[in-house]
Amino acid sequence: MKEKIQAEFNKHFGGEGTVYASAGRINLIGEHTDYNGGYVFPGAIDKVIMAEIRPNDTDKVRVYSIDIDDTAEFGLNEEDAPKQQWARYIFGICREILKRGGVVKGFDAVFAGNVPLGAGLSSSAALESCFAFALNDLFNGNNIDKFELARIGQSTEHNYCGVNCGIMDQFASVFGKKGNLMRLDCRSMEFEYFPFNPEGYKLVLLDSVVKHELVDSPYNKRRQSCERVAKRLGVETLRDATKEALDAAKSDISAEDYFRAKFVIEEKERVLDVCDALNRGDYETVGQLMYATHNGLSKDYEVSCEELDFLNDIAKECGVTGSRIMGGGFGGCTINLVADDKYDNFIAEAKKRFNEKYGHEPKVYDVVISDGAHKVSE
Ligand code: GLA
Repeated sequence: MKEKIQAEFNKHFGGEGTVYASAGRINLIGEHTDYNGGYVFPGAIDKVIMAEIRPNDTDKVRVYSIDIDDTAEFGLNEEDAPKQQWARYIFGICREILKRGGVVKGFDAVFAGNVPLGAGLSSSAALESCFAFALNDLFNGNNIDKFELARIGQSTEHNYCGVNCGIMDQFASVFGKKGNLMRLDCRSMEFEYFPFNPEGYKLVLLDSVVKHELVDSPYNKRRQSCERVAKRLGVETLRDATKEALDAAKSDISAEDYFRAKFVIEEKERVLDVCDALNRGDYETVGQLMYATHNGLSKDYEVSCEELDFLNDIAKECGVTGSRIMGGGFGGCTINLVADDKYDNFIAEAKKRFNEKYGHEPKVYDVVISDGAHKVSE
């Protein structure tokens, strides 16, 4: 990918710049908990957005996207975002750095990526983190700390892309470390690296190729449900709510809000239980908790879809240790923890049966836990 980007950079702008990359992410467990002040358990993967960037001594940004074959240009003093959605992410990153008193000067950039779009692997966070990291390195002497870089990406989603997301994706993309998952407490922002090398098991994603667009999806509505219940229970976020308090307030809240909050309260416990199980090397328990998450996301939080439930059923029938929908939902991937001796049969069955039912095979991505945002070459 790097060679292609360098060739295109030279073609469009002449010469060369500095190359940066940032990653998409998986999440082992802890879904829709980030904006509720709970725990998440993500890791960066070997699928990235890579960009070559060079200051151009103007106040203009010129960017070429290789994958979309499209160019965008905007001035750093302009308030109006570019019309192309992909360029709004880059515009948003620039604005959010400037808003915080950071420096962004004009630059030329070319970028490409191999994070599948709309698959729940956070291609947008990879794009945001790649540019946030790069602009910090090029113009700010790396003075903006990594948490702030993640928040700059998150604010870009909020203010320029209409997704009221939590911090998980940008955090994972910025902080990711090869071979490690991270348990993040989204209330205190304390986190711990967890070396993850499940002997005898593989992590594999099955992409239903059902598109998920969080912008138009009910993602923001889920968040509003949680906030309504937290307010009713008199807590800042559902992190501080208990099942007992929720049950006591049941008659005052809508059935829908009740089930949304119930899922979140149960899910925050599951993350801690998974950590304990991992510390014991007890992957069977990890797997059971993953199935419980799927069930909750499907029945209580209602962010699954027929295709993902079908993939989850196949996993169960093939004796897969753990399987669940991953990410925001409404399409995308399942994440599966599979014993080595069950792997081949599972993949073959999933491809065959999904194809019979939906007319195409799911895509298969073996998970390789990798580094987050970094400089690729000077
Ligand atoms: C999306 C959001 C994240 C998180 C997940 C669900 O990926 O961007 O902040 O809420 O959904 O866990």
